Amino acid sequence: MKMSHFIALSLGTLPGLSGLVNAAGVTTEKVDPALQNTVQTCAACHGANGRSIAPTFPNLAAQTASYIEAQLKAFKDQTRGDPDAQAYMWGMASPLSEAMIGELAAYYAKQAAAKGTGSDSALIARGKEVFEQGVPAAQIPACATCHGAHAQGMAAFPRLAGQHAPYLLKQLIVIQSALRNAPVMHGVVKELTRDQMLAVAAYLESI
Ligand code: HEC
Ligand code: HEC
Repeated sequence: MKMSHFIALSLGTLPGLSGLVNAAGVTTEKVDPALQNTVQTCAACHGANGRSIAPTFPNLAAQTASYIEAQLKAFKDQTRGDPDAQAYMWGMASPLSEAMIGELAAYYAKQAAAKGTGSDSALIARGKEVFEQGVPAAQIPACATCHGAHAQGMAAFPRLAGQHAPYLLKQLIVIQSALRNAPVMHGVVKELTRDQMLAVAAYLESI
């Protein structure tokens, strides 16, 4: 190993260094080996770079950092307690330190979003209407008000665009029944019918 590489590697392991200046004077981003290892574990279900293949496992890529952070803390302190959260995520989140949770959130927020899929255009059109206009007769507000015009999310309001429809549907069901504790969303979806849930999930998966 060249001496300059050796020095760079040793410096890279010092805490508190967010970047290094290499021999050519170019700042390179520090890649935390602990983060790399953890991300490999997560990839078994959430896919490489947070774009998952199986619809039970939500995409994490391009999700907002503050939402990811809040969810990991809720799994860790066991306040997000729907059955799949318990079965899959309580054990995964329990060993994560606060610092690692922050790093994971920043990592996934930076990854390129999953591409939309779906072909049932009538269902998708009905879902778009729910998303953009809500259901005024049932006093359901437009989802876009909080989740963004393109469902891109913002801070505590999660990105929903390109998310797997079966995952979204399941979350709407467990939020409505209060198995998953999400007070704001619970109020919003109290009167949403199963058909409207299916439609809005199909729309969101398609964008
Ligand atoms: C064995 C499979 C599995 C592994 C490994 C796994 N997860 Fe999960 N994860 C899930 C499932 C299933 C859900 C959905 C839980 C639910 O339905 O409430 C989930 C949900 C999440 C969510 C919430 C997403 C959202 O949109 O609300 C985050 C964040 C998350 N996982 C992060 C991670 C991180 C970080 C790791 C690695 C430390 C990880 N997961 C490892 C299966 C897994
Ligand atoms: C008043 C703001 C608000 C409105 C309006 C709103 N949401 Fe949400 N939504 C939230 C918040 C906040 C969360 C995060 C809940 C948490 O922290 O657990 C959320 C979470 C969700 C989730 C879970 C995402 C995940 O990755 O697990 C889904 C699905 C969802 N919303 C769908 C909808 C749909 C569909 C509508 C319209 C019918 C809607 N939301 C309207 C605020 C809102």
